[in-house]
Amino acid sequence: MGKFRVGFIGTGKRRERPGPMGYAMAYQHAEAYRKLPDCELVACADIVEENARAFAETFGITRIYTDYREMLEKEQLDIVSICTWPHLHAPMVIDAARAGVKAIHCEKPMADTWGAAKRMAEECERLGVKLTFNHQRRFGTPFRKAKALLDEGAIGELLRIEIGFGNLYDYGSHTVDLANYFNNETPAEWVIAQIDYREERLIFGMHNENQAFALWRYKNGVYGMMSTGVGSTLVGCHHRFVGTDGVIEIGPVGENLPVLRVRRFGKGDWEAIDCGGEGLHGPGYIDRAIADIVAALREGRESELCARNALNATEIIFAAYESVRRRGRVDLPLTIEDNPLVDLVNRGELRPQPRQVT
Ligand SMILES: NC(=O)c1ccc[n+]([C@@H]2O[C@H](COP(=O)([O-])OP(=O)(O)OC[C@H]3O[C@@H](n4cnc5c(N)ncnc54)[C@H](O)[C@@H]3O)[C@@H](O)[C@H]2O)c1
Repeated sequence: MGKFRVGFIGTGKRRERPGPMGYAMAYQHAEAYRKLPDCELVACADIVEENARAFAETFGITRIYTDYREMLEKEQLDIVSICTWPHLHAPMVIDAARAGVKAIHCEKPMADTWGAAKRMAEECERLGVKLTFNHQRRFGTPFRKAKALLDEGAIGELLRIEIGFGNLYDYGSHTVDLANYFNNETPAEWVIAQIDYREERLIFGMHNENQAFALWRYKNGVYGMMSTGVGSTLVGCHHRFVGTDGVIEIGPVGENLPVLRVRRFGKGDWEAIDCGGEGLHGPGYIDRAIADIVAALREGRESELCARNALNATEIIFAAYESVRRRGRVDLPLTIEDNPLVDLVNRGELRPQPRQVT
């Protein structure tokens, strides 16, 4: 079998200080494909030609475009990585799927609205294109080992998953996706939430609240709970799992605490779990995520980064914003199309003070 022809949409520009105005994620995707013997980096597209040229030079790519549709038309790509900001994900995924690529690996969050997230997933399903999202933390040792502890019954029956990090939309696409992973991809049945949004916080062009409290229940009775912003200290760690026989924490906040620890009720104090020096964010997670999506394409199986799993997390996130808009509990499936947070801002019901983003 020949090599998979890989192309990139949205190369980004490498910065000294990456942040909410640009991480140039495509570079990390390209590093990962470059390590795989069955992938060939063929072409890239960015509306800023200088960005595309710098990226191409770094990775020895000769085919450079400022119009991604032209790239899709001319290059007969097998795999496309989409690394633009969220409002562009759905139209670009749909264009790539219709151009005949076999697999699309798109950056998170899925899309700017719930309707767009559903449409991109449906179109790829209809065309038989493997659509995945870069929820790479699933491949990190602290997260894998926590899942193994849950699976072996280290804390008995899982009752509750708590999240105390980030925000609902941007980083929440990781933390809620992980919560679903820990609960074996069980769909949620309802969500209730409140947020505070007094200071504008645009991350990759999208509104993100300053503080959130959300509670949801999964169909297997397990609860999910998220407290962020100034309320994140309620949880005091990235993820906590409360079971009938103990507690597991990932990323507890405090000095000299291990990245993963477990406390078994009636069996003494916290036990630190060795994660080989890996943290909450890496290293190596994107390499493993991309190795998995390429292996899944080769083997004709579904990657756990698939759109179906991403939709499960995205539904909880948009349902939380919908709960704020409705001032009540939202029973799933979610029937809206838009992004309720954007709607609340546009209608002046939320008035975040504009802030200079650097
Ligand atoms: N997985 C993670 O942990 C993680 C971390 C950071 C960012 N992200 C996500 O990655 C995505 C991209 O973020 P980034 O920081 O890499 O962005 P970036 O700003 O560094 O790069 C985006 C690039 O897209 C280009 N672009 C814009 N419109 C285009 C168009 N129509 N056609 C082609 N190119 C176009 C821009 O010129 C820019 O070069 C975002 O969705 C963000 O949320 C994910």
